[in-house]
Amino acid sequence: MLKKMKFWKSSRTIMAEKDRVEFILQNQLPNHIAIIMDGNGRWAKKRALPRIAGHHEGMKVVKKITKLANRLGIKTLTLYAFSTENWKRPKQEVDYLMKLPEEFLSSFLPELNEENVQVCMMGYKEQLPLSTRNAVDKAIETTKDNTGLKLNFALNYGSRSEIIDAIKDISNDLKNGEITETDLNEDLFSSYLMTKELPEPDLLIRTSGELRLSNFMLWQLAYTELWFTDVLWPDFSEGHLLEAIEAFQSRSRRYGGIHKEEIRK
Ligand code: FPP
Repeated sequence: MLKKMKFWKSSRTIMAEKDRVEFILQNQLPNHIAIIMDGNGRWAKKRALPRIAGHHEGMKVVKKITKLANRLGIKTLTLYAFSTENWKRPKQEVDYLMKLPEEFLSSFLPELNEENVQVCMMGYKEQLPLSTRNAVDKAIETTKDNTGLKLNFALNYGSRSEIIDAIKDISNDLKNGEITETDLNEDLFSSYLMTKELPEPDLLIRTSGELRLSNFMLWQLAYTELWFTDVLWPDFSEGHLLEAIEAFQSRSRRYGGIHKEEIRK
């Protein structure tokens, strides 16, 4: 009897999720979702585990969320996997975080490729250990012609450095005559950023209850819808992603203007 009830409960949950997905697909999807995956350390601490166990669990969640985002038809998913400030952590943790992309890609790259996902990366690649760079380069090369979800890892990424570098490049191009002062505008500035190939994020998710941007895409997030949850990243599920997208779909984006129908009032 208990077994039967359990089956009924789980099939009901699956049905509900299927309905949710169908409903979501009838509405405007965020083209680009960015996620600050926070709370791995706290997840581990709650279980008296080392912090790296939290990062390992977090990696498994990356797999699940990537699959769902691709299935939904999201165009770009940017994941903040390591910031330029994360080097300040204990060496053992940094070493582990640097190994994660390799571990993730060694087991998941064939499936990503099969599912038409294109892997890309933004951040200061030169400072990454050679083996990390090689794993990422291999994934980028293998998936470069794929047309499904763009899975963009922000690895050794920091927005302020990115902005300063853009300013330096612009000033060089002004000096060498590649551009003139009249060319300067928001689009031109964006084209000097690491995200030049990507649309701006429509939805930013941050887990673990922290309410800040932590040097993540400060320019690009100007008009992004923000969604925060107390859930720690290793506990983040497909259902939470659907919840974030549902919240996005209920928002009214005005980009500083007002809606046409309000003009007539
Ligand atoms: C922040 O949580 C999380 C990170 C600095 C690392 C995020 C990395 C992953 C989720 C895995 C990435 C996977 C791949 C495939 C590259 P925290 O450690 O600051 O947590 P805390 O605030 O609870 O201490």
